[in-house]
Amino acid sequence: MASPESFDRAAALKEFDEAKTGVRGLVEYGVTALPAIFRHPIPRLRHSPLSSPILSVPIIDLSVPRSSAVALATAASRDFGFFQVVNHGIPLSLLSRTLSAVRSFHELPPSVRSAFYSRSTKTGVNYSSNVDLYRSTAASWRDTLQMVMGPTRPDPERIPPVCRAELLEWDEHVVTVGRVLMGLLAEGLGVDAGSLEEATCLEGRVMVCHYYPPCPEPEMTTGIAEHTDPGVLTVLLQDDIGGLQVKRDLEGGESVWVDVQPVPGALVINVGDLLQIMSNNEYKSVEHRVLANSNQKPRVSVATFFNPGDRGDSKFYGPLPELVSADKPPHYRNFTYEEFMGAFFSKQLLSRRLVDHFKF
Ligand code: OGA
Ligand code: NI
Repeated sequence: MASPESFDRAAALKEFDEAKTGVRGLVEYGVTALPAIFRHPIPRLRHSPLSSPILSVPIIDLSVPRSSAVALATAASRDFGFFQVVNHGIPLSLLSRTLSAVRSFHELPPSVRSAFYSRSTKTGVNYSSNVDLYRSTAASWRDTLQMVMGPTRPDPERIPPVCRAELLEWDEHVVTVGRVLMGLLAEGLGVDAGSLEEATCLEGRVMVCHYYPPCPEPEMTTGIAEHTDPGVLTVLLQDDIGGLQVKRDLEGGESVWVDVQPVPGALVINVGDLLQIMSNNEYKSVEHRVLANSNQKPRVSVATFFNPGDRGDSKFYGPLPELVSADKPPHYRNFTYEEFMGAFFSKQLLSRRLVDHFKF
């Protein structure tokens, strides 16, 4: 039987969700203490004793000769699972226009933005707080506008007018960068540079536009709980606030959280679970998290998750055949996209290891 506490929690979640204005709505309302639904059972201390200033995520200049770019991107994907890129070819003015447009959406008057609030992804566009609100043990201090950009684009009319032009333009440029990166990473595996694109990995795109309002008690909650990204590759644009951290295993079994420092003009790239599988463990999908925002200003980020577009039940994903041999047996079985997403949605965002589900 449900305890009185869990009953109250369910009611509080519902009340929060039905207000349709997200965490930003709580801030507008003037909350000065963290509501109970956001309290994490184990406080995630900001200044974790494991934080280490000596380690930092590699920054790769994409204007270097191609062979160098392949070597750098490949090394970072094997080792860190994360890197930042500069000189990626996207106009810097578009980076700031995209972030401002997303900020403007989340700062629309409550009655205007609540019209977009929904947990249904049917139309391809939805605004909500915490995708896993009803599944996680504690909510996070974050709201999200999500768009499924591919394989089929939503009706542009569904995208909030305040950020429509920018997000459509952003998506086009992100595909261009995604194509370059997938080419480099495929080449680094020793397979044809077009292999990932041919496997339709540029086609299935989900764009999430996050807004992390200033948090009254940031040490008691989180911005995004630790997780790995399920797809192939993630391209993330962040503003200058910071808070994204990547888990890094050290020798001897210890791990530390490494800050992904905001670098003006840079994009953050990370390997997802599906690329770890397709690369037969050559590349690593690494846990990351975002601290609750302790700044006075809100934090904005825009992530594009690249997934395969071919979702038929006769299309199987698994380690690329070229990477498997008698010496290098496959670490994973093959599966359909539907099976893959089923495994993703059956787990909480908080728990990790989607890859374990398909391990031999
Ligand atoms: C994500 C994610 C990081 C960020 O959306 O999966 O890790 O900085 N976002 O918003
Ligand atoms: Ni992520």
